[in-house]
Amino acid sequence: MEVTTPAARAAAATAAVSLASRPAGFSIQNGLPARAAGVTTSIGYNYRHVPAVERVRELIAAGQLGRVTNVRAVFFNSYAAEPNGALSWRFRREEAGSGALGDLLSHVVDLMQYVVAPIAEVSSLLSTVYAQRPILPMGSATHFAVIEDGEMGEVENDDYVAALVRFAAGSRAAGAVGTLEASRVSVGPQCSLGFEIYGTDGSAIWNFEQMNELRLCLGRGGPTKPNHGYTTVLGNSGLGDYGRFQPGPGNSMGYDDLKVIEAKKFLVAVAGGEQRNSTIEEAHADAEVIAATAASARDGAWHSVVPVPGATFGHG
Ligand SMILES: NC(=O)c1ccc[n+]([C@@H]2O[C@H](COP(=O)([O-])OP(=O)(O)OC[C@H]3O[C@@H](n4cnc5c(N)ncnc54)[C@H](O)[C@@H]3O)[C@@H](O)[C@H]2O)c1
Repeated sequence: MEVTTPAARAAAATAAVSLASRPAGFSIQNGLPARAAGVTTSIGYNYRHVPAVERVRELIAAGQLGRVTNVRAVFFNSYAAEPNGALSWRFRREEAGSGALGDLLSHVVDLMQYVVAPIAEVSSLLSTVYAQRPILPMGSATHFAVIEDGEMGEVENDDYVAALVRFAAGSRAAGAVGTLEASRVSVGPQCSLGFEIYGTDGSAIWNFEQMNELRLCLGRGGPTKPNHGYTTVLGNSGLGDYGRFQPGPGNSMGYDDLKVIEAKKFLVAVAGGEQRNSTIEEAHADAEVIAATAASARDGAWHSVVPVPGATFGHG
C-alpha cells in the first residue's frame, strides 16, 4: 500500500511503523515526525530493489569496476509528452512542488546515492516545454487524460532537468563526476530510467525498460583480448532477490515485484533484521540533492548538498 504524504506524516507521528510513498516534490519537513518518533520507515524508491541494480552496487563495493570515474543517469518518461495532457496535481507547485525534478530525478538521485556514493555538489538547469495544459477538475482523472479544446491553465513546474554532479570527497566514489537528467515529455522513451557507470577497470549499463538485462564490461581490453567487450547478464538467482521469484535464470521480473521486495525489506527492518529498507534519512538526503538542484537552476551557481546524519545508503 502507498499512502500520500499527509497520511504518512500522521501515521509516522503515532504508529510504530510507517510505509510511505516516495512523494512527488518531497518536502524535507515531511519526514521529521517519523524521525523524531524513531519509527521504522520505508520510502518508495523501488528501483533500487532491481536484482541487476543490486548487483552493480555489489560490484562497485567490491572494486570490480576499479575507481568510479563518471556516470550518466537518466529518467526519460513519456507521461506528459501529449501537449493536451491534463493539468493534474503533478503540474502545480502547491501540490507537487517541482516537476520532473522531484517526480523523476529523485529516483535517479536515489539510485546514484544507493549504487555509487553520496552526491556532494550540483549544477543544474530546468526547462518547461509546454507552458500551458488543459485544466483538470481535481480528482476527476490523472495526467494520462487528454482534453481537446479545454480551458488552459499554467504549468507551474519543470518538464526537464539536467544536472552536473560531483560525488562526495571521502566516499568510495571520491573524484567521480556525472550527469543526471530527467524528462516527463520524452517521445520514444517511456519509462527509461537507466544508468551508465564507468570505472577505471570496467563499466555497467542498465535500464528499467530492459529491467532484467545488465550489461557489464569487467576488466580492461587491449591487444591481447580481441573479444573484450560487454556481456549481457540476464536475471538469475545470484542477483539480489531474483531467486525468491524465479528458480531459473532468464525469467523476467516486473515493476510490481519491486514493491514486494520493498515490503519485504521493510518488514525485515521492522522485525529488527538487516536494515535494507529505504529510510527517511536517505529520502531526506535525496531531497537535499533535489533542493540543491533547484537552487542551482535558480541562480546558475554550483550548490553544495547538505549532508544528512544517518543517511548511510547501506555503505557503512
Ligand atoms: N515509486 C514509484 O515508482 C511511483 C510511481 C508513480 C507514482 N508514485 C507516487 O504515488 C502517488 C500517486 O501517484 P499517481 O501516479 O497514482 O497519481 P495520479 O495522478 O495518477 O492518481 C492520483 C489519483 O488521485 C485522484 N485525486 C487527486 N486529488 C484528489 C482529491 N483531492 N480527491 C479525490 N481524488 C483525488 C486523482 O483523480 C487520481 O485518480 C504519488 O505520491 C506519486 O509520487 C510513485
